[in-house]
Amino acid sequence: MSAVQETTSPVVHEEPNTHDLHQGYVEMYHHGLVHVKSTALLCAVGLGIPGAIHRRGGAATLPHIATDTGVHPAKRSYLRRLMRVLTFSGVFNSHQPDEGNETLYTLTNVSRILVSDDTAASTPPCDVSAMLRLLARPSTSISTFFSLEEWFRDAGTATLFETALGVPTWGLTKNDASYNRALNDACFADSSFSMGIVLKDAKSANIFRGLGSLVDVGGGHGAAAMAIAKAFPHVKCSVLDLDQVISKAPDLDGTVKFIAGDMFEFIPPADAVFLKYVLDCWDDDHCVKILRQCKRAIPARDDGGKVIIMNVVVGYGAQDNIVKETHVLFDMYMMRYSGAEREEHEWKKIFLEAGFSDYRITPILGFQSIIEVFP
Ligand SMILES: C[S@@+](CC[C@H](N)C(=O)[O-])C[C@H]1O[C@@H](n2cnc3c(N)ncnc32)[C@H](O)[C@@H]1O
Repeated sequence: MSAVQETTSPVVHEEPNTHDLHQGYVEMYHHGLVHVKSTALLCAVGLGIPGAIHRRGGAATLPHIATDTGVHPAKRSYLRRLMRVLTFSGVFNSHQPDEGNETLYTLTNVSRILVSDDTAASTPPCDVSAMLRLLARPSTSISTFFSLEEWFRDAGTATLFETALGVPTWGLTKNDASYNRALNDACFADSSFSMGIVLKDAKSANIFRGLGSLVDVGGGHGAAAMAIAKAFPHVKCSVLDLDQVISKAPDLDGTVKFIAGDMFEFIPPADAVFLKYVLDCWDDDHCVKILRQCKRAIPARDDGGKVIIMNVVVGYGAQDNIVKETHVLFDMYMMRYSGAEREEHEWKKIFLEAGFSDYRITPILGFQSIIEVFP
């Protein structure tokens, strides 16, 4: 089932009435200004506003936030306007005070997972702000879309990322230490958060039960593999990733074995290959090549072999507008590398082409899924 809303009504050429013109005019402004939302959020994370509210016991006034985040006194009046946009966007809540008192700002579901806090707070905060920083990173995310029109007109085969920045993304992780760090930190933060939830849920945790070994391919700095090894100590976990990633990986107390290599060349043998947020970076042909290497690495289905993919399956998960819009936005974000967020029939096509016989989808985390793929 497609999650994309498509209208089937016939095209009628009617003169728009005044109400329609008003509506169109407002919506045009709204679309044109939407970038202010994500850049305002990026600024709030950079200033550390979620952490400042958290450290004030979960509710802070504007002067508290300004003091705690180092906003220059000359800029304090502007901070109210930033907080107003972010309150409208659902990032913070504002509580109107009694006469004479200041407005109090509190955290919402979004800002609660963006709390960076290196102080000893009573409840350990969740911090996926490194992923937010990557998604809205000016030089390697936002600016690449400035080349979208040029890329659409161009006959060449370069990806949007290459058109904008002159190198493929995994080339840039090799040449640009700050991008390499931003990507690895984002993946580490995201995996620590998301695998905590996946492994706490009995149904999704079961997917990893009974395995003797697992290799996390494109596993970055090992946060997912470490979470699996801690939840299932008898599973021997290793991580395969490119040399520029593995050479900067933390030690993780030896819980996880790190292997530098190229997944297109060789994947070390294991009961299961785990691919979290990897296949959506690639087009179908590359996915088939990766999955064929995975199939060589695992035993037959009867002997417990499987590939475990964590990615979006468009049309699965909660079916509210936020999820549907996130799926299509994420798809276009991955289009920068020639990757894609796939519907079930698109996944099935690449599984069959890579020689697999069966699969099972388990929706997780509101908008992601786990797909077990069996040889
Ligand atoms: C989007 S990141 C996902 C990281 C991690 N699995 C996660 O979910 O946090 C994709 C990963 O694939 C790795 N990668 C890209 N090309 C690779 C290759 N040819 N062989 C092995 N890993 C590769 C990248 O270095 C990066 O760590």
